[in-house]
Amino acid sequence: MQNEHDTTRRDFLKRGALAGVAASLWPAARVVGERSPVRPSMRPAGPVAISSRNGMRAVARAMEVIQQGGDALDAVIAGVNLVEEDPDDMSVGYGGLPNEDGVVQLDASVMHGPTGRAGAVAALEGIKYPSKVARLVMERTDHVLLVGKGAQDFARMHGFPVENLLTDRAREVWVRWKETLSNQDDYLPPHSPEDRDIGMYLEEIKRHWGTIHCSAIDLAGNISGVTTTSGLAFKIPGRVGDSPIIGAGLYVDNEVGAAGSTGRGEANLENLCAFLIVERMRMGDSPQQACLYACERIVDHTRLARLQDDQGRPAFNVKFYALNKAGEVGGAEIWGGGNTFAVADANGTREVELAYLYRGEPG
Ligand code: GLY
Repeated sequence: MQNEHDTTRRDFLKRGALAGVAASLWPAARVVGERSPVRPSMRPAGPVAISSRNGMRAVARAMEVIQQGGDALDAVIAGVNLVEEDPDDMSVGYGGLPNEDGVVQLDASVMHGPTGRAGAVAALEGIKYPSKVARLVMERTDHVLLVGKGAQDFARMHGFPVENLLTDRAREVWVRWKETLSNQDDYLPPHSPEDRDIGMYLEEIKRHWGTIHCSAIDLAGNISGVTTTSGLAFKIPGRVGDSPIIGAGLYVDNEVGAAGSTGRGEANLENLCAFLIVERMRMGDSPQQACLYACERIVDHTRLARLQDDQGRPAFNVKFYALNKAGEVGGAEIWGGGNTFAVADANGTREVELAYLYRGEPG
């Protein structure tokens, strides 16, 4: 019997095969300086902002800025700042879950469509608004990416205070993770004298890759985007995910659209999916088709048994969000069914369902 996933996947593969034919008709190389053609349907439309699901307030704020005549980059940064400063979002900025040493290390990138510039910071400690620092890297240096102490020194130079970003709540989750990680070390979670096995991994202390991506089209039809995160919970200090890597966690082409991601950054770093999605949209994919294509690429490239479930599918999730120059939006994830992303446009703010390859949870 055919199930929903089979249909989705078969349709997708069929479409992929057709796309392959289209791709083979596409010129293999371009003369330097020649612009890629943009499909006639991809014309500027009214303003729109999209975000991962944790950005309902972010897209609403971004639309306010846009309606007041703001540039899309001002809008998306103002939007994600609400989440970066929110102690209750444990995947971004202040209150984010720390690395294995209990230190919050943040990654962020921005990209400004009209000028084609990008800026990013990685493994940044003590600065509440990494997206603002990423923007300053773009505007006030000749570089694209600053990391670690250099990024923090640069932020201090521009007047950002260095603060403790580890909230009590995040610290308590980290302590519990450390205490239950192994029964081969000496940390003990709260226990009673009768308990024998008190060092076991607790399923409820899940490591996660929360993040916020937000991109928008402003009143002038220009596109910009931002991705910001505290990255993988309890990561090895210095680990950098996909969020600050232009082409992986974020990509914008002002003539085509924008894309961003959340989820397992390592899978995206090995496939550069934001760039891939924008290029698929350039070739005619809708935002949702392009996001599904990126999911399928990750499935095809996930070859290590330790990263696969017993049917050879990725044992993790990655989500993608995209919009095109026509104002169409879409998103997809490897695993899902009923999950949503945030959209704000002239009709207000709402949740839109993410497409998916496999129904259910990874694992
Ligand atoms: N996608 C966020 C991260 O891997 O850090």
